[in-house]
Amino acid sequence: MSQWNSEKIRQDFPILNETMNGKPLVYLDSASTTQKPRQVLAAMQQFYETENANVHRGVYVLSEKATAHFEGVRQLVKGFINAKSTREIVFVKGTTEAINLVAQSYGRANFKAGDEIILTAMEHHANIVPWQILRDQLGLIIRVLPMDEHGELMLDSLPGLFNAKTKLLAMTHASNALGTINPAKEMIKMAHAHNVPVLLDGAQSIVHGSIDVQDLDCDFFAFSGHKMYGPTGIGVLYAKQAILETMPPYQGGGDMIKSVSFEHTEYNELPYKFEAGTPNIAGVIGLGAAIRYIQNIGPDNIKTYETTLLQYATKSLSGIKGLRIIGTAAHKAPVISFILEGIHPHDIGSIVDHSGVAIRAGHHCAMPVMQFFNVAATARVSFGLYNTVADVDALVKALHHVQELFSDE
Ligand SMILES: Cc1ncc(COP(=O)(O)O)c(C=O)c1O
Repeated sequence: MSQWNSEKIRQDFPILNETMNGKPLVYLDSASTTQKPRQVLAAMQQFYETENANVHRGVYVLSEKATAHFEGVRQLVKGFINAKSTREIVFVKGTTEAINLVAQSYGRANFKAGDEIILTAMEHHANIVPWQILRDQLGLIIRVLPMDEHGELMLDSLPGLFNAKTKLLAMTHASNALGTINPAKEMIKMAHAHNVPVLLDGAQSIVHGSIDVQDLDCDFFAFSGHKMYGPTGIGVLYAKQAILETMPPYQGGGDMIKSVSFEHTEYNELPYKFEAGTPNIAGVIGLGAAIRYIQNIGPDNIKTYETTLLQYATKSLSGIKGLRIIGTAAHKAPVISFILEGIHPHDIGSIVDHSGVAIRAGHHCAMPVMQFFNVAATARVSFGLYNTVADVDALVKALHHVQELFSDE
């Protein structure tokens, strides 16, 4: 795509034609979930209309077709994140399930009482709670890498957190609450120098630029389809093959076995060992269409466009009296958390909704971040490739309206 064409892109998203409270929808909550282009919707419908059968089982043409399409998407995912092999691509429900899988399979098998895990101060609950569950099961210690008032991790503190008992660094690639993009490659290098593997939570990074797991050299990478223009209920756990080979299954059932008797079960090869039961086949097909959609536009083009939009929005919001942006890191995904003096974020969210502007208000599943900034909640806007300068202007207008209403009280 040589020239960015917002109008053409927006035509791909039918929901953007909807009105909310009688006003055109201005959707500014893509970090929560993105809207879906008609290419994704069509691929899923076509699958159900012409290819639907269970995968990996049937000896008939229809099932072979479904299986070929399903496994074709695995190949596509491999290329999308530059994994070495399709054996490293495990289909899961989403980022949350991927992290729980690593905790309960890899963690249980490799960690013991007194071992330590490092998290960062800006993790989503999905990358905190699974480790707390494991901590309580095994008697682990969780250490937290702090951040500063800009919402940037304090890298100088990282070397001091490693010791002989450190077993994993689990960190977000980009923060959903602050927008901060963390220097993952550098941190992975530091961790590896201490023989500590790294799990990257890619829920927010997967959709805002190219991801290369070999270049990052992460040991695990987790992401969700619904945050990258694909359907809900499907996501990916990438892990290096050598690590996956050693991991016990996470769930038992059909498809993850080679043979079963009442005495003994032989597990299937990678990645099927981790995919028990009938998978979300249509979800995988939709994910494949979403990857093709992103690849057609180009991850780097998307990043460039969204960065410009983020800069415009940051400048516009900064001009609003009494507005404070929470999260002012130098490198950010297109996410802006903010508070307005004297007005609760939930009131902001409900009032701008009257103007058709959909934003998020709350703790964003990152309560420790709220605690650090000493706020109960923030309002948050986040952009996708379909957003425009006009959306930002509509937001600013709606926020002025919020302030007018509150100044009348
Ligand atoms: C940084 C981060 N990690 C994990 C998740 C969990 O993703 P999911 O709910 O798709 O499993 C999210 C979702 O908001 C997120 O933003």
